[in-house]
Amino acid sequence: MLQQTKHKPTTAVLLGIGGYVPQTIITNQDLEYRLDTSDEWIQSRTGIRMRRQVSDGESTSDLAIQAGRRALDSAGNPDIDLVILATTTPDHPCPATAPYVASKLGLGDVPAYDLAAVCSGFIFALAQANAAVLSGQSHNVLVIGADAFSSIINPEDRNTAVIFGDGAGAVVIGPSYDQQSDGLSAFELRSDGSQKDLIMVAAGGAQIPLRDSTSDSDRFFAMKGKEVFSKAVNAMSSSSRTALEKSKWKAKDVDWLVAHQANQRILNCVSTALNIPSEKAVVHLDRVGNTSAASIPLALADHASSFKEGDRILLTAFGGGATWGAATLTWPNISVAEL
Ligand code: UT7
Repeated sequence: MLQQTKHKPTTAVLLGIGGYVPQTIITNQDLEYRLDTSDEWIQSRTGIRMRRQVSDGESTSDLAIQAGRRALDSAGNPDIDLVILATTTPDHPCPATAPYVASKLGLGDVPAYDLAAVCSGFIFALAQANAAVLSGQSHNVLVIGADAFSSIINPEDRNTAVIFGDGAGAVVIGPSYDQQSDGLSAFELRSDGSQKDLIMVAAGGAQIPLRDSTSDSDRFFAMKGKEVFSKAVNAMSSSSRTALEKSKWKAKDVDWLVAHQANQRILNCVSTALNIPSEKAVVHLDRVGNTSAASIPLALADHASSFKEGDRILLTAFGGGATWGAATLTWPNISVAEL
């Protein structure tokens, strides 16, 4: 039974976290064999050394279930009454993947839905979980970011194939009634649909149904990398500044910057723009690449052993849509399984 109380929570806090990456490793050297690229180019332009990839028969739901199970264990397996899955690569265009993930996790008939905000999906989902908990509509929410971009990437396209990797990360968000407790303290979310062409899979939706798709390139993920780079830096920096103001934190108060793991050079530019020392900027992309909606919870899970209770963490992301945002989080006292 869910704990009932007549008081509204003061804060939504992080109760547990887990991450999961598939077993198959694709190194830069593996890519050198089949693409006109080099380990030197990939490392110097992106910081990525390797990424993970689902094997045949493995899908986004499999990644989400594994990460969700670990987050639930980390939280002590509380009752869950809402599941939000941020993903751009659902198992099927219809229906959503979240209900299947919830049922496989044994969560019964809880409401469960997918959220589409590409690489910003986790922060958008976290904001919804925060609002659901603070309003009293939900008690404990499982938020998952999971993507298998290998299912939409053209393996022959060196512009994208070297960057993206598959994975999932999940958190459990619940209420705190303690006036002193810190958890999720501020959100800043934005979108600009006039930039929808920056990051796109053109076919397979209502505008270009698969039956009408004439070119192979329509069916694959495409990104205007250079434009996305500068927009991502500006958007993550400005939304981070606003989230810091809302939280009444100064840049010097931030213990860790956990930005969407798109590119090491983007991480460097964002930490410089925010005046946050680069040692405080968490780096996970070197080992898993850009895992889209999974990137932030995976980076948090990967670095959890470095975080101390009370550490102030700034999260920020930019993704297709365009969508972007930032959130501030105070790290709790939780146990986290290794990836
Ligand atoms: O997750 C959502 C948000 N996504 C992002 O934030 C991604 C943002 N963009 C980026 O990270 C970078 O723009 C990329 C990593 C995608 C590309 O790096 P870049 O420094 O912007 O490279 P570029 O596209 O300007 O290409 C520079 C050169 C070009 O050759 P020329 O025209 O100078 O002769 C490309 O053809 O590098 C070439 N190139 C490559 N060479 C070897 C592009 N991709 C590759 C490659 N290997 N994989």
